[in-house]
Amino acid sequence: MAGKNGTGSSKERSPEAVAPRRIVLDVDTGHDDAVAIMMAAAAPELSLDMITVTAGNQTLPKTLNNTLNLCDDLGIDVPVYAGATGPLMRELVTAARIHGESGFDGPVFKPRKKQAEKGHAVNALIEYLMDALPGSTTIIALGPLTNIALAMKLEPAISTRIGELILMGGAIGRGNVTPSAEFNIHADPEAAKIVFGSGAAVTMIGLDVTTKILLDEQKMIDVRLIRGRASEIFVDSMDNYMTACRNYLGEYPAMHDPSCVAYVIEPELFRLGEYHVDIECSGEVTSGRTVVDIKGVSGKPKNARVAVDVLPDLFWPLLERTIRRWTYLGKR
Ligand code: BDR
Ligand code: CA
Repeated sequence: MAGKNGTGSSKERSPEAVAPRRIVLDVDTGHDDAVAIMMAAAAPELSLDMITVTAGNQTLPKTLNNTLNLCDDLGIDVPVYAGATGPLMRELVTAARIHGESGFDGPVFKPRKKQAEKGHAVNALIEYLMDALPGSTTIIALGPLTNIALAMKLEPAISTRIGELILMGGAIGRGNVTPSAEFNIHADPEAAKIVFGSGAAVTMIGLDVTTKILLDEQKMIDVRLIRGRASEIFVDSMDNYMTACRNYLGEYPAMHDPSCVAYVIEPELFRLGEYHVDIECSGEVTSGRTVVDIKGVSGKPKNARVAVDVLPDLFWPLLERTIRRWTYLGKR
């Protein structure tokens, strides 16, 4: 699985085939971030060029460690950069009760060789985007938006050089960390406000759709039957994730972050609307809420495409395809 794209021969395509879409992942790995990384690295439609890491589900040393462990184990040969250690203006709030002490409780990894690249994720993002053809890069942001906001503040020109910025975060309806707010936006609302106000082509994949893609026992059995190391990592981690989601949220675990990768691979799974989205940063009980102006009553310009519905049944074949690709084309 060596090679720039991390998937070696799995990426080989006929000359007339469409070039893979260039992807940068910004993650706070995390059980569902890990599935998203596996999907992005295995998808022949995508070229995973870089991973930047932020604090979020756990502290930065832990989310970085989780990212490097996963990449090392599966042979995902892409540069990984350490980024923000906490939100722009607030104390770090983690999601330890869902993702555990390590942030990725469940799978066991051997000591690894892979190291983070030298330099800060924010500088790496800026450099990458300023070097790339304008519009040629898709950023998929799966954690608090701190790294992305910092990069936009340091080099505002990147905002319009990003082809599409797809983020897992927010909700039109209910939250998951408070009644109003979703975790990634709640963790760093000031960063989210910068991103939504940046002029970048933002696509918001929020809880309205991700909570419709739920992992249950039968789907775990289906993945277990595929066998191989990716299947093992998936099942070992999802066992933990499922227990935590059932205990603390009373529901089956949602495939939040993998939804964003599924959207890039097969956008027709989702229905989107274009709206003005604002971020509540100061509300006493609504801090971190994504206020989506569905009716256009604010008169403010539309600044984001927002996923409003999904065909969840069509997600699972993509997930299973991912695990199969790792088994047949990858190692072990
Ligand atoms: C988001 O919060 C994190 O815990 C998950 O990784 C996902 O990005 C869901 O609210
Ligand atoms: Ca995440």
